[in-house]
Amino acid sequence: MTVRGRGTRPSCQARYVHNMTAKMSATAATLSHVYPFGSRVNERGRLEIGGCDAVELAREFGSPVYVVAEDDMRARARAFIDALGARHADYDVLFASKAFPCTAVYRLLAEEGLACDVASGGELFLALRGGFDPARIYFHGNAKSEGELREALAAGVGHIVIDSLDELDLLERVAAEAGRHQEVLIRITPGVAGDTHHAISTGQSDSKFGFSPAEARQAISRLAGAEHLDLVGLHFHIGSQLLELEPFRAAVRTIASLGDFPVYNVGGGLGVAYTSSVQPPPIGDYVDAIVSTVHSELGAEVRLLLEPGRALVANSAVTLYTVQTVKRNVSTWVAVDGGMSDNLRPMLYGSKYEALIANRPLAAPTERCHLAGKHCESGDVIVRDAWLADPAPGDVVATPVTGAYGYSLANNYNGVPRPPVIFCRSGDARVVVRRESYEDLAARDVG
Ligand code: LLP
Repeated sequence: MTVRGRGTRPSCQARYVHNMTAKMSATAATLSHVYPFGSRVNERGRLEIGGCDAVELAREFGSPVYVVAEDDMRARARAFIDALGARHADYDVLFASKAFPCTAVYRLLAEEGLACDVASGGELFLALRGGFDPARIYFHGNAKSEGELREALAAGVGHIVIDSLDELDLLERVAAEAGRHQEVLIRITPGVAGDTHHAISTGQSDSKFGFSPAEARQAISRLAGAEHLDLVGLHFHIGSQLLELEPFRAAVRTIASLGDFPVYNVGGGLGVAYTSSVQPPPIGDYVDAIVSTVHSELGAEVRLLLEPGRALVANSAVTLYTVQTVKRNVSTWVAVDGGMSDNLRPMLYGSKYEALIANRPLAAPTERCHLAGKHCESGDVIVRDAWLADPAPGDVVATPVTGAYGYSLANNYNGVPRPPVIFCRSGDARVVVRRESYEDLAARDVG
């Protein structure tokens, strides 16, 4: 299924390049930098993503809908590869696929040459389906089941990241039974916490993830005697949505005390701008901080792996909603047709988002509103204190930066079917995940 962005008639690649260059500069002052690259206000005065008119997208595909600007996602993947490749010889960039685990995203990032991090049998299934070479898949998780470990071995996953002594023993047994030799890393909890929400901070000592440096020494010596497991390196992931670089450097310094290994996976965690006032470190600065510390602490010869999720995919997508009601009591409540079933992040982490009316993104905001969801809880507010321009039922509202952990945390609260995912590029839109149906809601019922 495709739909043309009716605001932009001239077709294909030439038009996209035109949009990206001439028109980007004209609209840069009006659309916040949190929107996907190439977003603009089109000739009809409407929001345009990936060359497609957002109001038309909502009409054609319904709402709520996740709209992905394919070129934005590709550009960020290339930015990571280029930044690391320019600074370090032996490297790989892994897509932390929990951020957006849908087949089309796996496929796109596999095409861009990334490797992949999975954290469950389900993500492994999807990554293989999306075309990732199993040899370049890294299997994570603090509570992998025996079944999942068997699945990983059967798939020929390149590396399993061991998180505990219990898992080490289990994997040694499973690998022996499978007659396999498995390369492994161990996950270190370096005792370094960045400044982020406590629910997504993982590097502190009291964590359910990984080995403390002291326990790691025990794991390293136990692995020295493991017949079926080859320890090739260390991994850490200290947390997510980190906007400062020092914690990454500190974590590298900590793991450097654990001996010399050929491979180091320094996780993900680079934060993104959810609102226009936030300026995260550019990808190049982040990579610079990591590579310079790795070179001084571990040497320039090691194999270095980065594992970004959010910074790869968050800004490439926008969610479109349709306003259902506008209620004015103490506050103005603008209620839309989605909410905590398609974006749990405001409720789980107090995350702040922006919103604008896609029908008239340049109109001056008239009113401070709470953008409310349709779910049966008062906490179901997507954006508090959003300034909107004359919101009215039928308007299409866009909330940017929903590419990471929106789709993956989506749920069916109140029996609401999960939204489709639409990829947009050069004015063409295609459905890569269809909207859930009512029948889907009952599809697993057997009694
Ligand atoms: N590597 C490992 C082992 C991870 O656990 C994670 C994220 C990443 C890499 C990627 O981190 P990122 O670059 O995306 O920060 N649901 C939360 C985020 C949970 C992150 C879990 N682990 C949210 O919506 O903010």
